[in-house]
Amino acid sequence: MTKSILKNSILFCFEPSIGQNGLSEKTFNTTLLHGEKFLKKWQNQKDFPLFRSTHEDLFSNDLQHAQEKLSKFEEILVLGTGGSSLGGQTLQALSKNDKRNLVFLDNIDPFTIEKAYQRDWSKTGIIVISKSGETAETLLQFLIALKSMRKDLSDLKISDHLVVLTEPKPSSLSKLADYFNCPILPHDQNIGGRYAVLSNVGLLPAILMGLDVSQLQKGAQDTLDDFMKADHLHDIPSLTGAALHYAFLEKGINQTVFMPYIDRCERLSAWHSQLWAESLGKNNKGLTPIRSIGAVDQHSQLQLFLDGPKNKFFTLLCAEQKGLGAKPDQNLGFTENLKSLSKHSLGNLMEAEQKATYETLAQNGCPVRLISFDSYNEEVLGSLLMHFMLETILMAEYLDVNAFDQPAVEQGKILAQHYLKQNENIAA
Ligand code: PA5
Repeated sequence: MTKSILKNSILFCFEPSIGQNGLSEKTFNTTLLHGEKFLKKWQNQKDFPLFRSTHEDLFSNDLQHAQEKLSKFEEILVLGTGGSSLGGQTLQALSKNDKRNLVFLDNIDPFTIEKAYQRDWSKTGIIVISKSGETAETLLQFLIALKSMRKDLSDLKISDHLVVLTEPKPSSLSKLADYFNCPILPHDQNIGGRYAVLSNVGLLPAILMGLDVSQLQKGAQDTLDDFMKADHLHDIPSLTGAALHYAFLEKGINQTVFMPYIDRCERLSAWHSQLWAESLGKNNKGLTPIRSIGAVDQHSQLQLFLDGPKNKFFTLLCAEQKGLGAKPDQNLGFTENLKSLSKHSLGNLMEAEQKATYETLAQNGCPVRLISFDSYNEEVLGSLLMHFMLETILMAEYLDVNAFDQPAVEQGKILAQHYLKQNENIAA
């Protein structure tokens, strides 16, 4: 087994550490044992498409061609929503400053789109991502972009600015790609949007943003290897994570707070929230994900977390921060507070606060696990992505729901289509 770069501390989830809101060792062990069959089931799925995605060929003709086409642009718009966008947004946290700027447009707010499309299109590339090729938000974003592009570029030229990533099958998006003579980068038909971050969906943006993609793949693969080879149930963080969530849910804890003390993990929280909610919120089951960011939300949500209803399980994500960042001048220590602060870097304060929150949560009877690492880099991010996808899949097993569909949201989509049709005459 590789030495994991993520440290997983679950001490503050148990009765002896946090009192009656914690789990007894017996309950936890029983729940974990119950998960053994889920572990075995997934350990036998070596060819599961998501697991294969850690080996996405970075040098495939399709991916190389798309990169070459887009690398001449300083700014690239990425159109898409849900799983077609959040993975790329998550990876953007590690983009290199000297690389081109990618702008992820995942909403249809007319003001956002109007502002984003006021540009010189001759200097802009576009990636359109939609697995189904039929998502209304993405298609309308794209149609409006095309209208705007046609002011600056001929239809013939537009193709040089476009990459379309979708399933290789007839769809509205593939028709548009054909019309503009734009080859399609194929979306793996067997990988659902929210599990696609390690496929070309996440990797094309990542390469264009200058990430060390091989380290990202390594982090994900090492975590997957550990999962595949492990036989001691307590040593598998994704299994212990799912078991904890399930055991706490049985105790009435039905919210899960994801709280990184790293600004660059903000989009990871959004990605995790979608993964967790869309995969698990089914048949009247699930835990509601809550996004929070330290230290900012200590001045916002923490009061409620500590002293409100005890219905939350916490995951803190922390990196080593001691000594990082700037330190102030020493000569401005006019008050005791300033004197003390002027001895410290930003990282020292962050480190002290994350530690304090971790311990305060426990002292107030709130179950909390700590996932920590040295620094936030591609390898760590790859490992976190794989960890949380595995944890979600295992949690779906505990809840006996399908982690890969989202039947309930279809109803809203049908109704939205109905309202659009009703308004067609007025709009025309
Ligand atoms: O995770 C999912 O499956 C969804 O969130 C989809 O990614 C989202 O609905 C967008 O779908 P599509 O990629 O087909 O446009």
